[in-house]
Amino acid sequence: MQPLGRLRLGVNIDHVATVRNARGGAYPDPMRAAQIAEEAGADGITAHLREDRRHITDADIEGLMEALSVPLNFEMAATDEMQRIALRHKPHAVCIVPERREERTTEGGLEVAKDENRLAHFIAPLREAGCRVSIFIAADPRQIEAAHRIGAQVIELHTGAYCDAHAEGDLDTRDAELEKMREMSAFAHSLGLEVHAGHGLTYDTVQPVAAFPEVMELNIGHFLIGEAIFRGLDPAIREMRRLMDEARA
Ligand code: PXP
Repeated sequence: MQPLGRLRLGVNIDHVATVRNARGGAYPDPMRAAQIAEEAGADGITAHLREDRRHITDADIEGLMEALSVPLNFEMAATDEMQRIALRHKPHAVCIVPERREERTTEGGLEVAKDENRLAHFIAPLREAGCRVSIFIAADPRQIEAAHRIGAQVIELHTGAYCDAHAEGDLDTRDAELEKMREMSAFAHSLGLEVHAGHGLTYDTVQPVAAFPEVMELNIGHFLIGEAIFRGLDPAIREMRRLMDEARA
């Protein structure tokens, strides 16, 4: 199968805010990172307003909505507070993610199948407000079918297990996770869902995922912000873009 279209790159700037918040001031500014990302070829900016505001803040979201010239993908938990904020700003896209206060990062996908009724009601007003609604899930047919039933337009496959297995040198698990994501990308597409992927992707792990023809967008943050320390944000993003395009060709 030919790729369905150009693969978009969403740059997640959460961890610029993590560094800023370590000192409680205004530097480094996630907005400046977003502007550099745009110039380096990011197709969108992704930011996760966590309930505990550990990195991105309400003021960051406000600033991004005012100043970005590429779409904002607003990651949020399925809470009333976040729904109110999303409906106030009406970002281009919202991505519903699970959130546990004690976790270091978003550890697993959303349990859509167990919470279908509530989630269907939760996302309806977001869709009506014109937001593209994405659900962050594991590559599991039950979750994909449930995401489809509740009316999401997009699923984002959690690439964390694949990336962790790669980092640990567990190649059997890595390849099994990759195969699962390959099959589930095709399955989700067959239901009419747009397929995105992300979490933990690096230069070493991006290409096999970028090569899935159904995947339309990758959201990548932590590695790019880390790599920016060594080579600068603009070149770090350009190299990711190059690897994605190479895998796609
Ligand atoms: N996609 C989603 C839904 C996420 O929650 C995150 C992390 O915030 C990412 C992508 C990006 O992950 P990473 O920062 O590990 O690249």
